[in-house]
Amino acid sequence: MLISGKQKAILALLADGQFHSGTELAETLSISRSAIWKQLNGLADLGLQHSAISGKGYRLVRPLELLDENNILAAVDEKTRALISSFEIHDQIPSTNTYLVERALENTHSGAICFAEQQTAGKGRRGRHWVSPFGSNIYLSILWRFQASPMAISGLSLAIGIAVIRALKVHYGDTFRLKWPNDIYYQDKKLGGILVEVSGESDGPCAAVIGLGLNVYLPETEAAEITQLWTDLTQITGQQQLNRNVLAGTLLDQLLFVISEFEAVGIAAYLDEWRRYDCLKDKPAKLFIGQHSYEGIVQGIDDNGLLLLARPDGSTQAYASGEVSFNSQHTLPEQIKIPSPPERGLG
Ligand code: BTN
Repeated sequence: MLISGKQKAILALLADGQFHSGTELAETLSISRSAIWKQLNGLADLGLQHSAISGKGYRLVRPLELLDENNILAAVDEKTRALISSFEIHDQIPSTNTYLVERALENTHSGAICFAEQQTAGKGRRGRHWVSPFGSNIYLSILWRFQASPMAISGLSLAIGIAVIRALKVHYGDTFRLKWPNDIYYQDKKLGGILVEVSGESDGPCAAVIGLGLNVYLPETEAAEITQLWTDLTQITGQQQLNRNVLAGTLLDQLLFVISEFEAVGIAAYLDEWRRYDCLKDKPAKLFIGQHSYEGIVQGIDDNGLLLLARPDGSTQAYASGEVSFNSQHTLPEQIKIPSPPERGLG
């Protein structure tokens, strides 16, 4: 369902979670009360429930903080802001990554930013769907152009994980971890994921679209299809209303900083920090690559960011891609069915 201008205006009024009378809404939007009622019922299709009490009016069951360019940019350092070439917030889009991958082919400049309130075809790693309900999480993509080859920036996706951890640390403390190659974890549950899509010449230049999905508030009903253990910041912090714009700004700030320096410093600059946040180290795990799986004890990452697995035969192998399952609660049926992607570095 597409969001109409009227619906967006009603949402902006109801976002505070307070009651607003039908008369107030109708007058502000210059439409009839019955048109208001119709628009409100349409909001349910976005997963937004409202309640109506006679004499009081309408209110959203859960207050919303809609994304706002000025509020996001206020949390971005001035120097970092200068790296942004364009900034878009979409109410609804199939996928912020797909959008920027297409823009990259049209010569859009490096530093293009795309946020969305909702994705109707959000993409996860290894062909999975990324659950992206309206108005409650972060869906962010950044287009960045590199002089280097796709191979040379293969460690970027690990460095991106560091940027996200740094941003979360600013607001919520040092409790977040990374699961190779770049899942954001909190106490063995997935909080966010990163999808880096690279295109370009084999010996450079190349364009990378860096996509981040971070769960701020993920309703149980929407999460029913997720097969991994997951969490969101609302559960973690116990706070009902988190400041999504400020968080989005901090994420953008940290991401742009890391992305812009990556070509010069490479993965080497991030290895120590990444290893500090590694939630797999020394754990028994199973790595799924296409139809194959490999068991072993995780030894961390090597200096190229590859996963090191101590195998039962006594050898230690390094792997460039795959999906790691590290406890019995993880069920990965769909990963096992997915054919192995071409080996194109990490992420
Ligand atoms: C993963 O599977 O862990 C990666 C998830 C990446 C999701 C984000 S949401 C914003 C961007 N747009 C997409 O379609 N995917 C990424």
